[in-house]
Amino acid sequence: MTNLLVNIDHIATLRNARKESFPDPLVAAQQCLAGGATGIVFHLREDRRHITDEDVRRFKAEIDAKLDFELSTAEEIVSICCRTQPELATLVPENRQEVTTESGLDALANASRLSEVIPRLFDSGVSEVALFLDPDLDQIDVAAELGASAIELHTGDYANAVSFEARIQILERMARAAERATLNGMNVHAGHGLDLENYPDFATAVPHLKEVSIGFAIVARAVIVGIKQAVEEMNLTVTNTVYAQ
Ligand code: PXP
Repeated sequence: MTNLLVNIDHIATLRNARKESFPDPLVAAQQCLAGGATGIVFHLREDRRHITDEDVRRFKAEIDAKLDFELSTAEEIVSICCRTQPELATLVPENRQEVTTESGLDALANASRLSEVIPRLFDSGVSEVALFLDPDLDQIDVAAELGASAIELHTGDYANAVSFEARIQILERMARAAERATLNGMNVHAGHGLDLENYPDFATAVPHLKEVSIGFAIVARAVIVGIKQAVEEMNLTVTNTVYAQ
């Protein structure tokens, strides 16, 4: 069975846009768990554009479910992750100019830094360390050599593929990458751009999928399916509140 972990960064993005204390990502996380999610994903970025250090502290204290802490290899963030001790740490590339994570990590180019960070995360009590990778067999072999216990396949190219042929080609690469990771003794996770429409073909084509990390599609859909109720609640208050004469 594949587990769904929900990325709640976009709840924090909305909160921060208005410099308010709501919507609270912790409350959203609890609703995700009530909806059946196995765990919660968050990315503490170096620029703190959405999730804050205080959010991380509250998630750790209040959430009784699997936490997936996405992080770059920046020293400050690695230290916070080690102190937080999430069940899963997923190492991702980070670039200040990007709107969202744009590609998988280059594990080969960053092997030296990763060979320090991965054992530190395990030694601090993190049970599982994943590298976010494009479906490249060499990268997957390097991840195994570096001691990662999982890979997260970057599904952005799959989600953005327009032609049927391009989609099939990417799915074949993904399937080979998942097989290779499993042969190397690593768990297979996946995420980025997955949604209600593209998930079924992905999950049917790619074996050994243990976890998927999905954020934007769920938060965007929550706005659409939830806005009618929010208006009904407000409208009840507006129509039932009588002017003081
Ligand atoms: N996995 C990783 C490593 C990510 O960086 C993201 C985006 O924050 C996701 C999964 C979730 O992607 P999306 O928000 O498109 O579902």
